[in-house]
Amino acid sequence: MRVIGSDEYALITGGCGFVGTNLAHRLLSEGQRVCVFDNLSRAGVQRNLDWLREQHGDRLIVKLADTRDAAAVRDAVRRASHVYHFAAQVAVTTSLDDPISDFEINARSAINVLEAIRHSIQKPPLFFTSTNKVYGGLEDVRLREDDRRYTPRTERIAQHGISEERRLDFHSPYGCSKGSADQYVRDYARSYGLRTVVFRMSCIYGPHQFGTEDQGWVAHFVIRALNREPITIYGDGKQVRDILFVEDLVDAFLRANEHLDVCSGQAFNIGGGPANTISLLELLKLLRRFEGREPKLESSDWRTGDQKYYVSDTRHFQELTGWSPSVRVQDGIRRLREWLLDAGVPALVQQATEQPQRKPATSLVAKAIPRATDVPVATAPASE
Ligand SMILES: NC(=O)c1ccc[n+]([C@@H]2O[C@H](COP(=O)([O-])OP(=O)(O)OC[C@H]3O[C@@H](n4cnc5c(N)ncnc54)[C@H](O)[C@@H]3O)[C@@H](O)[C@H]2O)c1
Repeated sequence: MRVIGSDEYALITGGCGFVGTNLAHRLLSEGQRVCVFDNLSRAGVQRNLDWLREQHGDRLIVKLADTRDAAAVRDAVRRASHVYHFAAQVAVTTSLDDPISDFEINARSAINVLEAIRHSIQKPPLFFTSTNKVYGGLEDVRLREDDRRYTPRTERIAQHGISEERRLDFHSPYGCSKGSADQYVRDYARSYGLRTVVFRMSCIYGPHQFGTEDQGWVAHFVIRALNREPITIYGDGKQVRDILFVEDLVDAFLRANEHLDVCSGQAFNIGGGPANTISLLELLKLLRRFEGREPKLESSDWRTGDQKYYVSDTRHFQELTGWSPSVRVQDGIRRLREWLLDAGVPALVQQATEQPQRKPATSLVAKAIPRATDVPVATAPASE
């Protein structure tokens, strides 16, 4: 029997993370029920969970569990009207240290989610967050450079960015694990008729992001500048990215859902696009303006898999759904900075990063997969 109706919820794996918290907040604010499924392995995300609880009380359902636990995933999917699969090992650096764990969390867990949906009665649509890293280092994109940034020599790429036509070329274990999940998610639409949408995302930034050197570079730079701590520039700092404010990303998920008939089975490049690009050196300049002082800098070699230029061509998604980003870079960074200050995040992140950086994600998988636990009733009024 179909176990949905008043019991149903939008299921967000990784729902206490940065993207998950922002989506959960939007859906809950619109009156929907949401279940966040998270193992709280990312430093700082307990804070997001506490905040969501404070804001939304009983409509928030919390499942503290691990996506590698297929039974827990199956159980959570049973009542899902929609599934947003965001839980992931998110750092290229960590994936290089421990590729097996990275595979289990990113690739294997995605199949757990897909199988849970395939065997469910209601077969909810699935939205999956992939990455621009599936396109590799883009070494063949010819670039010119000035003193602040790289620019493509090919007019089409300079004007529109990298499209989904680009050949796949998985780089780094993270690129491989996310890339294979991306392909499975697409294939389950083809092979089993599931309704699935893949977002190959560029850099997302905004409130509730606990950026570190390993992931979330925009927030990391802002936090370091606020803390007056040195920022390490890997490479020459002229790397260019299109950055997307998280509220625009949330809009994109809602648009994809509204236009599921045409979006299903497809992968879309999602980012700020050519109108919202920034190089590392340009972000430093902006921070200098915000803080009224020079950020402290250190330099180091290029990191594996670092693209010199990546900008999303989002035209395909825009044509199908009418979506376009509305928050401009300077405004978005100002809003991120204000949130960090209001939330007192710099001090918190500093404490979290005083412990060895990559240990939590790596050691997480050395342990047995934790069994799913619903949050104890005493601390979680809305737990299942
Ligand atoms: N933020 C970006 O710029 C960006 C860019 C491209 C792709 N992505 C993808 O978007 C998704 C969300 O990213 P984010 O920035 O919100 O990351 P995040 O680290 O803030 O959130 C991920 C959440 O997943 C949880 N998690 C990790 N492993 C888990 C597991 N095995 N079981 C259950 N929960 C687990 C973490 O505790 C965390 O709360 C990820 O899939 C990431 O790969 C993000």
